[in-house]
Amino acid sequence: MTNDANENKLSAARAAIEELPDEGVIGLGSGSTVRLFVIEVAKLVKAGRKLVGVPTSEGTRTQALSLGIPLLPDQGPWDIAVCVDGADEIDDRKDLIKGGGAAHTREKIVNYAARRNVIIVDESKLSSRLGEKWPVPTEVLPFGQGATARRLEAFGRTVLREKEGAIVRTDAGNLLYDVHTGPIDDAHALEAAMKSIPGVVEVGLFVGRADVVIVAGKDGVRRV
Ligand code: 5RP
Repeated sequence: MTNDANENKLSAARAAIEELPDEGVIGLGSGSTVRLFVIEVAKLVKAGRKLVGVPTSEGTRTQALSLGIPLLPDQGPWDIAVCVDGADEIDDRKDLIKGGGAAHTREKIVNYAARRNVIIVDESKLSSRLGEKWPVPTEVLPFGQGATARRLEAFGRTVLREKEGAIVRTDAGNLLYDVHTGPIDDAHALEAAMKSIPGVVEVGLFVGRADVVIVAGKDGVRRV
């Protein structure tokens, strides 16, 4: 990650603070950009702002608790005013690929539960068509994983995610397959088709789920 990208992430994270309610429940996404945002939220809470979070990953939970941000129980339902989250790739229609941090299933649940969704990205995440830059992260149950992966191959090369030689697991203990679709024509149809495969828990395509996108780049911060 370049210094510029880190600076841009910080700028986007700080700009998202303006999107928060004076008080209430906020969704806390996952990833390195959101980590910077959570630090800013903690400053507000410390200063007396009555904000309560719903975390989208164990990583975010640990960070938020360590910084003194109160959290709601996992089971929901929650009355979430705004959720702030990152993305791996975003196209002109504000559709997203997420799940580079293995958290897209919880992220999608919280996104759908929120009245408003704010996505914070640095400009390296922009693309004209989803799938140009990223494969589609797909959470899969361990049972029958080979059979599920074989079906996913219909959409592109399907790779079990590993890190430093170890299989990556989601917070729920499931596996991740990255499906290299190439540029996607119809993300909504693809999401539905992939989700129809038994064993697929959730797909990292977020179609029509961003209300505001905050992009930080060399020309400053802009809202889309
Ligand atoms: C995690 C995600 C993240 O939002 C996405 O990977 C972006 O992360 P970062 O801010 O580190 O680039 O979807 O599952």
